[in-house]
Amino acid sequence: MTKFSIRHLNLHGKRVFIRADLNAPLNKHGEIVDDSRLRGFLPTLQMALGQGARVIVGSHLGRPQGRPDPKMSLWGVSRRLSEILGSSVKFTSDCVGNKAIKAIKALKIRDTLLLENLRFYPGEEKNDISFAAKLASLSDIYINDAFGAAHRAHASIEALARLSSVAAVGLLMEKELNYLGKATHDQARPYVLVVGGSKVSSKIHPLQKLIPLTDQVLIGGAMAYTFLKAQGKGIGSSIVEEDKIDQVKEILVKAQQLNIDIKLPSDHIVSSQVNASANPQISSNIPDGLIGVDIGPSTCKKYAKAIGKAGTVVWNGPMGVYELDQFSQGTMKIATAIASSSAISIAGGGDSIAAIAKTGVGSKISHISTGGGASLEFLAGIRLPGVDALPDR
Ligand code: 3PG
Repeated sequence: MTKFSIRHLNLHGKRVFIRADLNAPLNKHGEIVDDSRLRGFLPTLQMALGQGARVIVGSHLGRPQGRPDPKMSLWGVSRRLSEILGSSVKFTSDCVGNKAIKAIKALKIRDTLLLENLRFYPGEEKNDISFAAKLASLSDIYINDAFGAAHRAHASIEALARLSSVAAVGLLMEKELNYLGKATHDQARPYVLVVGGSKVSSKIHPLQKLIPLTDQVLIGGAMAYTFLKAQGKGIGSSIVEEDKIDQVKEILVKAQQLNIDIKLPSDHIVSSQVNASANPQISSNIPDGLIGVDIGPSTCKKYAKAIGKAGTVVWNGPMGVYELDQFSQGTMKIATAIASSSAISIAGGGDSIAAIAKTGVGSKISHISTGGGASLEFLAGIRLPGVDALPDR
């Protein structure tokens, strides 16, 4: 990790803008279901406050498409952050307008102010330089602690870092870059990648780069049905991304050429509906009209055996519709298998983290990354714009 760090700065009395990733998963009532990302940010916040900074925190929440959406307000996050910090976090329903400017002027030493969701402004996701310039005018020092969003070239992550005269990584970003940086060299073999989640499309680019670096890939979640379809297998009415089948075929061919073993589920939990009143069954195929909702018990055993023999395991994404208890067994068993293995283990992505928390095995995972897409891209050797934009020591 060669980046200039918050540890190298004197923040006393300074207005310090910290870009955090407080994008916590919410339930349908808008309540935070997992506050790991907020807790992950605490050391940086506490360090800045301990040094006597006036702290301005910026984050995104969800994908509000550049417009205000009350369902994605960070107000609730400011309440939870106050609780876990043990002191008040002020909130302003604005980012760069008069309300925010006034609230920032009123900040005293050791005060914290959380701005409203940066993605309520169209300039954020466009990496708009004038939006970034407005953000830059709010503070003296810029800290990026948002590892989970470092793969996004957005204004508060990329343009703002370049515009700020003093910019550095926060402690969480530093820890992630240190751990994951080491993990990209000399991995203990076999290197097993366990990947799941609903969409292959959101992971296809990192997968194309990461799979060739591994020895074995265990695929689950809805993305497995796109792979099975690419192999010509029947998948009933399961989710499939038809437009990704050709790319998936290319991945399969390349893996075969490189002698990388890609494993797909050999049995499934199938159901006619995806809701809590469903009556799921175990099946070795997915008959017409039924939907695959989790990996089956025999697949769980095979995957657990492969994980048991691994030297390094990277896990990203659930094995099924994990949010519903009766479809969560595959994901929970994978979490347990990874925790029981002696491999170096790295888990990333909101659902994998929540499954680890639910199974209570967090202390047995070598590194739980706050980044889902970001950790996958980093491990795949893809440069992260949010890291590149920060100065070296
Ligand atoms: C994440 O949840 O992976 C990060 O917060 C980035 O969110 P995004 O995928 O909506 O950019």
